[in-house]
Amino acid sequence: MAATIRVNGDRFVEMISERRIRAKVRALARQINTDYRNAVPVFIGILNGSFIFFADLIREISVDCEIDFLKLSSYGDAKISSGDVRLLKDLNCQVEGRDIIIVEDIVDTGLSVEYIRHLIEPQNPRSLKVVTLLYKKDAVKPGTHVDYIGFSIPSDFVIGYGLDYAQRERNLKAVYRLKAKPVRATARP
Ligand code: PRP
Repeated sequence: MAATIRVNGDRFVEMISERRIRAKVRALARQINTDYRNAVPVFIGILNGSFIFFADLIREISVDCEIDFLKLSSYGDAKISSGDVRLLKDLNCQVEGRDIIIVEDIVDTGLSVEYIRHLIEPQNPRSLKVVTLLYKKDAVKPGTHVDYIGFSIPSDFVIGYGLDYAQRERNLKAVYRLKAKPVRATARP
C-alpha cells in the first residue's frame, strides 16, 4: 500500500515514488542528451519549485551546457493558481541565438509556461523548449506546448520533490497527492 503522510491536518498519499522519479529523470536526460548532441543549451530553472528536479536532471546531462534561473510566482501559499504570474527574478544570461530549455517541476494551468514564452521569445533564442516533470493533462490551457513530459497526472493537489504546501514539504523525496476527504453521510430527516 502507498505511504500516507499528514500535513497540517490533511492526508497525502504517495503518488510517484523516489525510484520512479529517478528512472524518469534519467530517461528525460537521455532524450535531451540525444536531441542536443550538437548544441550547448542553456537550462533555465523556474524557481522555486523546480530546484530539486533541476539539480537531478542537470547531473544526468552529458552535453556541454549552461544554467540560469527565473523566479516566478502565481500560487503564493494557495492550492490553486491566482492566474496572475509575477516575475520575481529575471535572467542573467544572453538568450539571443541560444538553445534554451525551460525546466519546470509542474505545468498545471500552463500560465507560467505561457508567461515564460512571452518573456523569452522576443529575445530571439535559436530554439526554446520546455521540460516538465509533472503535467496536469486535464487542467492545462489548450495550446500550451511542452516538449518533454515526465509524468502526466490528474488534477490532484500535489506536493514534494520541490513542490510546496504553503512553502513547506518541498524536501519530500517522493511526490504525494492530497487524499480526498471521504464524503460524510448526511443524517436522514
Ligand atoms: C508552480 C510551479 C510552476 C507553476 C505551474 O510555481 O513551480 O512554476 O506553479 O503552474 P501553472 O502551470 O498553473 O502556471 P508557484 O507559483 O507555486 O511558485 P513556486 O515554484 O515558488 O512554488
